[in-house]
Amino acid sequence: MHETDMNAASSTQALFQDQWKIYRKMVDNNFLFHREAYARLHEILLSDVARPFDFLDIACGDASASASALVGTQVAHYHGLDFSAAALALARDACGRLACPASFEEGDFVSSISARSAPVDIVWIGLSLHHLRTAEKGAFMGTIRRLLAPGGRLLIYENTMPDGEDRDGWLKRWDRQRSTWSAYDDLEWNTMRDHVHAADFPETDASWRALGDSSGYGSVLEVYAAPSDLFRMYSFKA
Ligand SMILES: C[S@@+](CC[C@H](N)C(=O)[O-])C[C@H]1O[C@@H](n2cnc3c(N)ncnc32)[C@H](O)[C@@H]1O
Repeated sequence: MHETDMNAASSTQALFQDQWKIYRKMVDNNFLFHREAYARLHEILLSDVARPFDFLDIACGDASASASALVGTQVAHYHGLDFSAAALALARDACGRLACPASFEEGDFVSSISARSAPVDIVWIGLSLHHLRTAEKGAFMGTIRRLLAPGGRLLIYENTMPDGEDRDGWLKRWDRQRSTWSAYDDLEWNTMRDHVHAADFPETDASWRALGDSSGYGSVLEVYAAPSDLFRMYSFKA
């Protein structure tokens, strides 16, 4: 691992294991448009996946938004994967309201998914794939593609740059959110900002499409863009 990648990985571990409350405050204030994104996920699961399905939630966190999106759908089994034991304990509670069985796994998503062989219908990644660099994202998406059951799909809500923007430009736009994140004090803002600058690697729209293509997906569709245009949701069909 490069030194910068090791810094990114330890920043991610620290943020999500020790400073979960700072992330939670961001979700509660809808700074990242969780409400709209997960409502869109719910719609897709209802209209496009109108049959019983297994759901694999990669980097599930506390699973509160995923559980809300799954209520009322035909989900037959939920599996949450995360390297934070604290987040998984909360996820267990959040998934208690689902009518289907739920299982949980503590581990790094790259190694856990590489070791997996059971097919799955729907794989969801909410705001976590961006910790990988472009080539690693492609390899990981290819591994997921091989696990998808016929008719399955990978859905992601991830850091995205409009075509023509680079990471510095995206980070500058991310930093401009300070004026609207008034619920954060300076310590909370700086903690989150330092993490994003160390560990977030967005892709352009064209790059997400190329990654879908090169990792073996039949089609790629953008299904939601956050009003900030910092995050977009894509559906990759097997
Ligand atoms: C930004 S939160 C996203 C949580 C949730 N999916 C959402 O949409 O709000 C990122 C989550 O990814 C987990 N995570 C980050 N890198 C990971 C890795 N390599 N393996 C497993 N979990 C990871 C963190 O512990 C954290 O719970």
